[in-house]
Parts: sequence; C-alpha cells; structure tokens
Amino acid sequence: MATAIEGRTSINVKAGGLTPEGYQLVADGVGWESRTTKQARDLIINARHVVTAWDQESLVGMGRASGTGAHYAHLSDIAVLPHLHGLGFGSAILQHLLNLVDREVRDDATVTLHATPGTEPFYERFGFSPSATPFLMTRRGQE
Ligand SMILES: CC(C)(COP(=O)(O)OP(=O)(O)OC[C@H]1O[C@@H](n2cnc3c(N)ncnc32)[C@H](O)[C@@H]1OP(=O)(O)O)[C@@H](O)C(=O)NCCC(=O)NCCS
Repeated sequence: MATAIEGRTSINVKAGGLTPEGYQLVADGVGWESRTTKQARDLIINARHVVTAWDQESLVGMGRASGTGAHYAHLSDIAVLPHLHGLGFGSAILQHLLNLVDREVRDDATVTLHATPGTEPFYERFGFSPSATPFLMTRRGQE
C-alpha cells in the first residue's frame, strides 16, 4: 500500500520484509530494550503477521500481530523511527495490520494491544478503547 504525503513521494507499507537486523534498527531507534539477533528472529518467526513501512528503500517502521487467526489477535511492536513521527507512517502500519487481522478473524474476535502510556489517542482512532487492565486496549469486532 502506498500513500502520498505532503513533501515526500509516498509511504510504502507492506506485509513482511522484516529481518532481525531491521527489527533491531527500529527498536533501537525508538529506545526499546535491545534484543539479540536470535530474540528478534524468534519474534518475527512467531508472528502471525508482520508489516513494514519504507521511506524510499529504507525501513522506517514495523508492526506485528500474533494470535489464532480466529478468536483473538494481539498487536505489538508498532514503531516508527522518530524523525518520521507524525507523517502517517504509524497509521499506515496499524491500518495494514488491522486489514490482515480483520480478514481472517471471526466477527466477534477480540483484538488487543498494550499501549505505551500516552499513545492511547493514536489507537482510539482505530476503534481501540482502554480496558480495566491498565494500558491494555481492546477492539471488538467492527461493523
Ligand atoms: C506511536 C507511533 C507508532 C505513531 O506513529 P506515527 O507515524 O507518528 O503516527 P501517525 O503519523 O500516523 O499519527 C497519527 C495521529 O496520531 C497522533 N499520535 C501519534 N503518536 C501519538 C502519541 N504518542 N500520542 C498521541 N497522539 C499520537 C499523531 O499526532 C497523529 O495525529 P494527527 O493526524 O492529528 O497529526 C510512533 O509515535 C512511535 O513509533 N512511537 C514510539 C514507539 C511506541 O511507543 N510505539 C507504540 C507501542 S504500543
């Protein structure tokens, strides 16, 4: 999926394309706890869906989903390199992940994620709402 944004050619978001080194690049870029190459590889292998975002030929963002493909899905590791925040990359990643998830899960499936404190408004735009468990946000089947 490619979307034109002002001042740039486009945002490219696609399924797949994440390597352990790419995972480490984005995770390090947003200041997350560092992962070994093996840990990063395991996260990718065990994901049901992986989405990557690209600025020209450069990896700039990622997201992944785990779950059964039926009753639930959990989204995680949604991140965009800081110098590109606020340009729509995060939204494009999240929308692409949700498209992949929504087309396979049941209508009454629960979609969850743990929102980094402060990011709740970003997720609320996509139908997520806070749960009784702190920072856990859930998204029930959409119309
Ligand atoms: C959260 C994150 C992925 C959003 O990516 P992004 O590319 O900046 O998001 P977008 O440009 O698509 O932003 C969409 C809208 O959400 C808003 N938004 C984005 N991040 C936000 C945040 N942390 N808090 C509140 N609003 C936020 C933007 O202001 C934008 O609003 P606008 O359209 O009115 O300008 C990015 O900030 C990020 O990588 N953060 C560090 C890692 C992280 O915390 N990930 C979340 C793990 S749960």
